[in-house]
Amino acid sequence: MQPKLIIHGGAGSSLKGKGGLAVVREALHGIVAAVYDDLLQGAAAAAAVVKGCELLEDHPRFNAGTGSVLQSDGQVRMSAALMDGTAQRFSGVINVMRVQHPIQLAQTLQTESDRVLSDQGAAELLRELNTPIYNPLTDLRLNEWLAERKGDFDKTMAGVIAEQELGAESEAGRGTIGVVVLDQAGRIAAGTSTGGKGFERIGRVSDSAMPAGNYATPQAGVSCTGIGEDIIDECLAAKIVIRVTDGMSLADAIAKSMAEASQNKRDLGAISLAADGAIAWGKTSEVLLAAYHDGHAIGDTLEWTGPELVGHIAP
Ligand code: GLY
Repeated sequence: MQPKLIIHGGAGSSLKGKGGLAVVREALHGIVAAVYDDLLQGAAAAAAVVKGCELLEDHPRFNAGTGSVLQSDGQVRMSAALMDGTAQRFSGVINVMRVQHPIQLAQTLQTESDRVLSDQGAAELLRELNTPIYNPLTDLRLNEWLAERKGDFDKTMAGVIAEQELGAESEAGRGTIGVVVLDQAGRIAAGTSTGGKGFERIGRVSDSAMPAGNYATPQAGVSCTGIGEDIIDECLAAKIVIRVTDGMSLADAIAKSMAEASQNKRDLGAISLAADGAIAWGKTSEVLLAAYHDGHAIGDTLEWTGPELVGHIAP
């Protein structure tokens, strides 16, 4: 069957913190093209998801891998998950440090009996695998963290700092990357990776390495972005996928789930695919940085700023 692919580089209120429309479009379209080539060569869904996530993790503007935001103590801790829809098997890492591609750890854990590892366990796994130590910190993220820290200090001292002055880093905090694939054999997989919210407490757990943020069955797959707590409260990825698995169309499932999220005043977005070839996306935030290949051409959601909560391409 014709493969399908959708990826995202986060959600937020503008593209400013990501370098602008042209930069984001070039990055997302390039990654869609590279992964879609693999799918045309017969790549399996899970392998294509891992490749897409690695490319997104390598792009310094997206909040995952290189370019991850810093937590409250100035450290980068990353989380990632891979879900093979055909096997209906989830694996992931939570708050892992000093690694270039957290998604590769999630991939390794697919075949283990202990499939979700947090900080110490993930570090141990890195050592076992002899994975080279890698520093994902960028100057941009360090400067954002320093500015926000100074902002907090100024606010405490003077109580007068404007919220807008902290705009760029709060954008990054809603960032995540994700990939959902339907391969030639009709298999679905989903992957999600993130540096988290930024400035969070040590030990805070992201939705990205939970089925709330990344889920798939043989019928559908979803990757989420946005404020992790909002995504967890909606159990968004699992909810959309289960609605489709129970017989609802993907377009209806995402529309119903996004309407609920909007009513609950959540700040999030999601990308999704179904086994029948439908592609859909949704957001309650202002923008969703997603791009897709529908089997004919590459498209994206970058200029979609209207009031609609969802968009979709029929099978
Ligand atoms: N959605 C990413 C996070 O909140 O950690």
